[in-house]
Amino acid sequence: MNSVITHQIADNLFLIRTIDRKLKYFEALWEVPEGMVYNAYLLKTSEGGVLFDTTKANYTEPFLEALRDLIDPKEIKHLVVHHMEPDHSGAMSAVLETIGDHVQVWGHPFAKRLIKSLYDLDPNFQTVKDDTVLEIGGKKLTFRQMPWLHWPECMITYIPEDGFLFGGDIFGSYGIPDGIFDDDGDDLHEFLHLAREYFASVIGHYKSYVNKNLLKLEGESASPKMILPAHGLLWRKNPAQIMDAYTNWANGTPVKGKVVVVYSSMYGFVEKSIQVVIDDLEKRGFNPEILRITDEHRDDLVDILGQIPDSEAVIIATATYEAGIFPLMAYIIDEILHKVAYEKPMLLLSTFGWGGMVSKQLKPKLEESSFHLVDVIEIKGLLDDESREKILAGVSKLVDAIHSP
Ligand code: FEO
Repeated sequence: MNSVITHQIADNLFLIRTIDRKLKYFEALWEVPEGMVYNAYLLKTSEGGVLFDTTKANYTEPFLEALRDLIDPKEIKHLVVHHMEPDHSGAMSAVLETIGDHVQVWGHPFAKRLIKSLYDLDPNFQTVKDDTVLEIGGKKLTFRQMPWLHWPECMITYIPEDGFLFGGDIFGSYGIPDGIFDDDGDDLHEFLHLAREYFASVIGHYKSYVNKNLLKLEGESASPKMILPAHGLLWRKNPAQIMDAYTNWANGTPVKGKVVVVYSSMYGFVEKSIQVVIDDLEKRGFNPEILRITDEHRDDLVDILGQIPDSEAVIIATATYEAGIFPLMAYIIDEILHKVAYEKPMLLLSTFGWGGMVSKQLKPKLEESSFHLVDVIEIKGLLDDESREKILAGVSKLVDAIHSP
């Protein structure tokens, strides 16, 4: 199976898609059993070619082979750098060498520094500001800086003649789609789930930049005819679907009734207590989304983070371990606060055998976050009637907070 495929998208515009089936952990961090694709694009014009981004270093040779099948690389006049993270720039040195010294590299000023620091290159660089335009072959490639989506040097390209918006990381997704476009038969519900996981784990920390950057898309560029992201499907049937999804995730717009429950349980004590929470939530008409760390099951961190942007509230329940927070939960909580902290109600529950330390250690951190910590419940060992009452009282506070934000 080819690791790099090409597809003609429109007159003289081609997708060059790297399919990374070997990937297990994006950025050596995020669990991605679904794999991932890196989308580069080639525009051929009467005045020469424009290449948008490259690919990850491991795929340099098949990328160059695919490129050569589309164009004599010497005919490429411009390389547009939407983002310098090496999933898109890793092949840059070889690509620039193949094209030749005449190529002009277009990017955010910070990209120039990154090209030097990551690859020790100093190409013929054209600095892009908001509204910088590259006119070529009757098209006006219009650039907009999109800082922090996902790195400070990110930018997008809009081609007004076609209504095409090249988004870079923004509007991207994990996963290897079967098709090219959103109307090729991929399960969009599942695909949007992977896009939400990508948003949460990759863009999440910078989510406050989504709205302010998207405001830069004015007029027709705010309603592009096609979105061409650097990861995942291309959106031509319903570009608004992925744009609206990203805006909703950035704003934390909740799906009614969705409450995320994340817990760790070593020997079942936390599990028994959290079951009281789950039963009560269901009785009240909520849909708990349960993610757990036990001796038989471990949900991926990506799955956990990806459930939070569209939740109404978050419940965290953890075991005590060596007079502290169960280590995996400590990591998960830190990442939740780092990536997907929203102004949503939160409930904290912990159990302990001989010493209750979790609330003392976690409460200040959670209170300082964007979450609204409604209650902290600490239960000694076995669940008894008194503990059950405490838990139900905590759930009531959470439900009140959901209903009166
Ligand atoms: Fe797809 Fe931030 O790299």
